[in-house]
Amino acid sequence: MNPSLKPFPKGPLPSESIHIVRFSLEKDLAKWKQSKDYPRKLLEAFTLSDREPVKSATNPTAYDRLETLFFYKPGVKTFALHEGIRKGIDFDRTKTRHLALDLSSLKSDDAEKILNAFGNLLVLGTYEATRFGKKGVEQVKKEKTKSEPTEVLLKSSLSPARAKEVFENANSQATAANLVRTLSELPPNELTPEKYLERIKVIAREWGAKLEFFNQKALEKIGANGFLAVVRSNPADTYGIAKLSWKPKGKSSGRKIALVGKGLCFDTGGYNIKTGAYMYEMHRDMTGSAVALASLGHLIRTGAKDEFDVYLALAENLISASAYKPNEVVVASNGVSIEVVDTDAEGRMVLSDTLVMACENNPDLVIDYATLTGAVIRSLDTRRAGVFSNRDSLRELAVESGDEVGERVWGFPIGDDYWDEIQSEVADVRQCATTNNCDHIYAATFLSSFVKPEIPWLHVDLAPESHKGGLGLSAKDVTGFGVRLTEEILGRFKKKK
Ligand code: BES
Ligand code: MN
Ligand code: ZN
Repeated sequence: MNPSLKPFPKGPLPSESIHIVRFSLEKDLAKWKQSKDYPRKLLEAFTLSDREPVKSATNPTAYDRLETLFFYKPGVKTFALHEGIRKGIDFDRTKTRHLALDLSSLKSDDAEKILNAFGNLLVLGTYEATRFGKKGVEQVKKEKTKSEPTEVLLKSSLSPARAKEVFENANSQATAANLVRTLSELPPNELTPEKYLERIKVIAREWGAKLEFFNQKALEKIGANGFLAVVRSNPADTYGIAKLSWKPKGKSSGRKIALVGKGLCFDTGGYNIKTGAYMYEMHRDMTGSAVALASLGHLIRTGAKDEFDVYLALAENLISASAYKPNEVVVASNGVSIEVVDTDAEGRMVLSDTLVMACENNPDLVIDYATLTGAVIRSLDTRRAGVFSNRDSLRELAVESGDEVGERVWGFPIGDDYWDEIQSEVADVRQCATTNNCDHIYAATFLSSFVKPEIPWLHVDLAPESHKGGLGLSAKDVTGFGVRLTEEILGRFKKKK
């Protein structure tokens, strides 16, 4: 259940199980250092710096009543603010019934940003990966006896209606992020493409979205041989492209948005097989599809005005006598022939035909999400995702959007002379370069062969979908990154008339 939001009481605050959190700007620090209300010694050594633009102190003496005081530098970046807040308050452990949030000394922009962070944190903090066996029984028991959700008491310059809107939007963002986390942490025998599709069916019904599934027969008909090469290893026809469509009931913006996701329920590498540590955790290779799906859910819940088509490429990368091999040449559904170089580059293979399909209805914007390359992690570590586009302005818009919401991304070039490395003697394009430098750029350049040039397209390589010890608002490794980024991009993107 979501936390509730109420105004600060006129009289005294609840006296039990309460965490009082106050936010002030750096300039108020001197005043607080003089204050009698707060243990001065906690604040004595307090200074802010560019490396530490947010700092907090919690009064540790009171029982059942905590007070945390946050100070931050004006203009602090959202990511730093999020880290500061998450590290200042342990939301995964707090059992506090009431959270009194005093933002009264802040301008409304900052108050909204902080209220959004708390609206996210309280829901993100409830997340636990699905457990099995005895652990599963315990989890269900715990779920049943769970204490009531936190009540947030807010003091701010925001109107109650605006505060409610900001808070509920944040709750929905975190619900979506938790869906990404749940799906991506499910073991690969629990989230096979078949079982994934079953879940998608239930979800689509709940959201009022139409669902179609293009199985291997349907994909054969359209010549989707890029996708089919990857799944040829398994004769059981459970792989394919799930398409969810949704239109707003009332007034539509007239924009058509296509979201595409890589949904590899397991990536062994195929004949270019991965070894131990590289294969471990490859059940999360479907995270891109979960981000596309969960983003749709959030946008529907919060009254989106755009039309959406969401394409999820559901597959596994396995080995068998029929599995695809390096040096094969396959022709994708737009007629582009691909020379296979490395069977472990399966993501770009399944995405080739999925992108072609996504461009068919001429949407105003295509965004794809994929845990596509280890190279993007080597470039950015697990702190940011990489973005690539056939429009410089769209790539820049994505970077700005990420900064705004604290889900940071970084832009890379594609095309131009990067094509040189993926020229093939025998086909229109090589799947990979034979050198392994900047594979994330070659992968994105390859993908551009399957996107109509006249359609603005953004590729998000979110191989950095988890970060040891958590990141931003997420206190756990698997962050559920991507939904807030998507919402912000769509908010900023202007359709070309
Ligand atoms: N799913 C992987 C990419 C990946 C690696 C995601 C590590 C998350 C963490 C992708 O299918 C892959 O195997 N890519 C290869 C491409 C290479 C063979 C050109 C890689 O990055 O090694
Ligand atoms: Mn792979
Ligand atoms: Zn993969």
